[in-house]
Amino acid sequence: MAISGTRIITETFEAVTLLTINRPEALNALDQQTLQQLNTAVTAIEADPRVKVAIITGAGDKAFVAGGDIGVMQPLDPIAARQSAVETQQLLNKIEYGSTVFIAAINGYALGGGCELALACDIRIAANSAQLGQPEVNLGIIPGWGGTQRLPRLVGVSVAKQLMLTGERISAAKAAEIGLVGEVVNADELMPRARELAQTIAAKPKVALQLIKEAVNNGFEMDMNRAFAYEADLFGLCFATADQKEGMLAFLEKRRPNWRDA
Ligand code: CAA
Repeated sequence: MAISGTRIITETFEAVTLLTINRPEALNALDQQTLQQLNTAVTAIEADPRVKVAIITGAGDKAFVAGGDIGVMQPLDPIAARQSAVETQQLLNKIEYGSTVFIAAINGYALGGGCELALACDIRIAANSAQLGQPEVNLGIIPGWGGTQRLPRLVGVSVAKQLMLTGERISAAKAAEIGLVGEVVNADELMPRARELAQTIAAKPKVALQLIKEAVNNGFEMDMNRAFAYEADLFGLCFATADQKEGMLAFLEKRRPNWRDA
């Protein structure tokens, strides 16, 4: 099934949605229309009970997303710029904190807001031809879609500051070395690998997937003692699910579990 605005194309097959950002003539830069359609698509993915995993990629072979649209941003006044940052942060938070597992399949440039979109995803894999970076400093601005916060949490403060202060673009291999992406594959292997990962995750019980995201995302912001208590609470909650009973029984009976996603 394919649903699309013109700028965002989604295709859902069983429990996996492929979301393609489709503005290749501008290297998939995110203008207002694209952001609105992305918001609609992410909201629909989150509301669809069948969908467990979504892959986000960019149309064409040059770019994942080359950033926020610079032409749109250039004339903004401070209030409008602040508001646009808040609204896009809220959209990216839907991805990070939602119940769907999001995989960024980085097929080319992931720069500025494109890198920030990838940062909001749960898993990042990249084609060996991809380049990543936060070049905002070269435009006289700072990353405003979560980059100053998510990047240091992912790769450490020093490396994150180096990337943001220099604005330099790094290769996919370097991004893997610093932990910015989890895996690098040949460009023609990117989508097969993304689908394989998505299928592997989609075959897991849904509530456990959701609670893993919640435990990591929310626990990360707590001190360790509160985080351990929170983890224990969510661990306990697993035992309210049919899938915990089934998963453990299946192990004991030496058979494959039949997940009910409940
Ligand atoms: N916004 C608007 N248009 C963009 C764009 C962007 N971020 N990135 C690329 N484009 C457009 C170009 O203007 C060009 O359009 P035209 O054909 O109409 O001239 C088209 O896409 C192709 O781009 P190039 O000709 O520049 O392609 P290239 O291969 O020579 O260079 C590139 C590729 C190095 C990625 C270069 O396009 C580039 O540097 N883009 C900007 C990257 C950037 O600075 N991103 C951060 C934006 S700010 C931001 O995202 C802030 C935030 O936190 C939200």
